Amino acid sequence: MAQIFPEWTNRLPVLVVTSAILFIILVVLGIWYYWSPWYTDVGYAPQQPVPYSHKLHVGELGMDCRYCHTGVEVSPVAMVPPTQTCMNCHVMIKPDSPKLAPIRASWEKKTPMFWVRIHKSPDYVYFDHSAHVSVGVGCESCHGNIATMEVVEQKKPLSMSWCLDCHRNPAPHLRPRDQVTVMGWQPPPDQEDAGKAIVKKFNIKPPVTCSGCHR
Ligand code: HEC
Ligand code: HEC
Ligand code: HEC
Ligand code: HEC
Ligand code: HEC
Repeated sequence: MAQIFPEWTNRLPVLVVTSAILFIILVVLGIWYYWSPWYTDVGYAPQQPVPYSHKLHVGELGMDCRYCHTGVEVSPVAMVPPTQTCMNCHVMIKPDSPKLAPIRASWEKKTPMFWVRIHKSPDYVYFDHSAHVSVGVGCESCHGNIATMEVVEQKKPLSMSWCLDCHRNPAPHLRPRDQVTVMGWQPPPDQEDAGKAIVKKFNIKPPVTCSGCHR
């Protein structure tokens, strides 16, 4: 009688099992890679060319974010301030500080400072600061308490699931618009209702479909 199954099919069960195991290992590695802080850059805090401290300027001197990050309410990008913004004060304050030497050089030669970029979404993601800040999402929700940072550090993963967690249920994260740059803001006891009221007031519907963030 002719064989219905050729001989190699005897090895089929082994093949199926080994590929299943390989597949599972790949999935685990994939999840570990994509969801781990290493991939998402949480904790990234590079050295900057000048030891500029948010802890000093914001935490102790009480400066508002918008004095330097002027784009944040009106444009997609927050912008890192030009050298002139620093020199508004530092022509008078600590004019001889060695820590400020690169700032003075940049000012005299009219060349821009090269600050190291920390938070960066991939090019295929559309992000807009003004859309968030103008409806009451605080800087702190996405950047942590900057007023305590000697060196800026990435605190949130900025991953797709992180964006979507808030987009699906924004109310708990919303605060009055005049509080967006306040660090250490404590939600009121009735945050649940207060947040819902803000959602209603601005008719907030964050995008959850692909084309909202991938345009
Ligand atoms: C006196 C000017 C000044 C003020 C005020 C200021 N910043 Fe900054 N900020 C800078 C400079 C300069 C950098 C770039 C160097 C660095 O990362 O420390 C920066 C960097 C940052 C970054 C990281 C940018 C990146 O590359 O990803 C964030 C986030 C940030 N600031 C948020 C804030 C927030 C929030 C506030 C208000 C609570 C604030 N800043 C107030 C000057 C300022
Ligand atoms: C509103 C005024 C103001 C602005 C604008 C400002 N600073 Fe300052 N900065 C200060 C004051 C005040 C001190 C503390 C001086 C002291 O310790 O006596 C300081 C201290 C510093 C120091 C420490 C200097 C040292 O020798 O200890 C650095 C570095 C510095 N600032 C960088 C910057 C940079 C970079 C910018 C622009 C992004 C900037 N500052 C913008 C007011 C300002
Ligand atoms: C909803 C989350 C969110 C909020 C709220 C938010 N940021 Fe950001 N921020 C981001 C993301 C995401 C990036 C990276 C953007 C990119 O690469 O295009 C970023 C980048 C930055 C940068 C780097 C330069 C730039 O313009 O991209 C600065 C500075 C900054 N943010 C400051 C602020 C300040 C100041 C506030 C509050 C007034 C704020 N951010 C509020 C998410 C947020
Ligand atoms: C803490 C809450 C929160 C986080 C985190 C957040 N968003 Fe949003 N997002 C909002 C809210 C609130 C709005 C405003 C929706 C409205 O006005 O209808 C919004 C609006 C948007 C819009 C629409 C802007 C426009 O001009 O139409 C885009 C795009 C967007 N978010 C992208 C992102 C991306 C990308 C991330 C992650 C890197 C992110 N968001 C993280 C709360 C958040
Ligand atoms: C709220 C904003 C938002 C929405 C809505 C959204 N994405 Fe994303 N997506 C992101 C961000 C931010 C990243 C970058 C993540 C990172 O850098 O880790 C991303 C990354 C991706 C990637 C690359 C994955 C990777 O790990 O490199 C793919 C593919 C993708 N998105 C597909 C989709 C599809 C399909 C949808 C609709 C079902 C969708 N996205 C909806 C924000 C969004």
